[in-house]
Amino acid sequence: MKPVKVSEAIYWVGAIDWNIRDFHGYATYQGTTYNAFLILDEKITLIDTVKKEFTDQMFEAIGQLVDPKKIEYVISNHTEMDHSGGLPILMHLIGQDKPVYCSKMGFRNLRGHFGDKFNLQAVDKDTELNIGLRTLSFMETRMLHWPDSMFTYVNEDDILFSSDCFGQHYAGWERFDDQIGEAIMPHALKYYANILLPYSPRVSKLIAQVAELGMAPKIICPDHGVLWRENPSKIMEAYSRWASQKPHRKAVVLYDTMWESTRKMAEAIVDGLIAENVETQCMRLRTIHRSDAITEIMEAGAVLIGSPTLNNGLFPTVSDFLCYMKGLRPRNKLAAAFGSYGWTGESIKLITAELEAMKLELIDPGLSIHWVPDDNGLKKCFEMGTKVGRALAGFER
Ligand code: FEO
Repeated sequence: MKPVKVSEAIYWVGAIDWNIRDFHGYATYQGTTYNAFLILDEKITLIDTVKKEFTDQMFEAIGQLVDPKKIEYVISNHTEMDHSGGLPILMHLIGQDKPVYCSKMGFRNLRGHFGDKFNLQAVDKDTELNIGLRTLSFMETRMLHWPDSMFTYVNEDDILFSSDCFGQHYAGWERFDDQIGEAIMPHALKYYANILLPYSPRVSKLIAQVAELGMAPKIICPDHGVLWRENPSKIMEAYSRWASQKPHRKAVVLYDTMWESTRKMAEAIVDGLIAENVETQCMRLRTIHRSDAITEIMEAGAVLIGSPTLNNGLFPTVSDFLCYMKGLRPRNKLAAAFGSYGWTGESIKLITAELEAMKLELIDPGLSIHWVPDDNGLKKCFEMGTKVGRALAGFER
């Protein structure tokens, strides 16, 4: 890879993973990047590494700027292996005695990953690391999205290295927001929905904290995707908005079906929602990836989930999605279950229990239809749609 200049003496030296399509269960249709950064100051400093398999790309980029052996300091903003996987090879090359600065929790995690062979130095908000012309400050961002996560800030340049926060799984020729424009935002939204959503209350606090600490980043450099240099406040404002989980006048109907009865129910519910002028999306879970489904419901005010009863349980794709959704802890949504059954009909009870466990507001006890919905059954579905639609009437689009 060729290095890319971020600012005077600061370079992107990461790797582009064009081909990854599954990032631990998240569909990455357009790959991703692993961003690492080199600061050419008196103490040459590397911020984060890349996934182990991509260390060649990182060294190739660094090597065009400086002999990698001259790196004096390493910062580990996050210990997940897509950013720390390259650490053993790097430390072997530059010398295991060189300091690796990380958060307190990072210290524990790096020990857990690699044993005690590195010279780990825990830093916190009171640490100022002088690297020559610059000083680096640190901010623990615990659970955004791992216990070890932290930010590094270059005080003199106002550049924020934000680890996974503000990232996007997007592999492209573009390294900066101004090169891709608005087209990056759906990637940032999907990333938020699938990675940061459970920690939304912390995100809201974090945005306030950045300002309190006097940080006014001119450039934000996340560990994935493009860097925000044209308008860094744009992604911070988007995070504030997403973290608020404000519900909109939008409903998402997610279902799977065996013999089309639950599909017919879903479509009648959609008719009811549309009759109430609600923005509506309807998706069959066997044909959409869970990470896209969760992105779709991010800003919705209602989510309706349908499953037939299969072997006294849920259809597997519905079960998979509910498990994924529960972990991501969406809030502020109306919810209800629906589905058809042949002889036992447990699906409604099972979905409803999951929706309750997620603390979503049940707008209906659930609609269960025996075998194939007749006109009366379809009317009940339509009415479920209109009921939800009316409840969303006062919400903004
Ligand atoms: Fe990109 Fe949490 O790793």
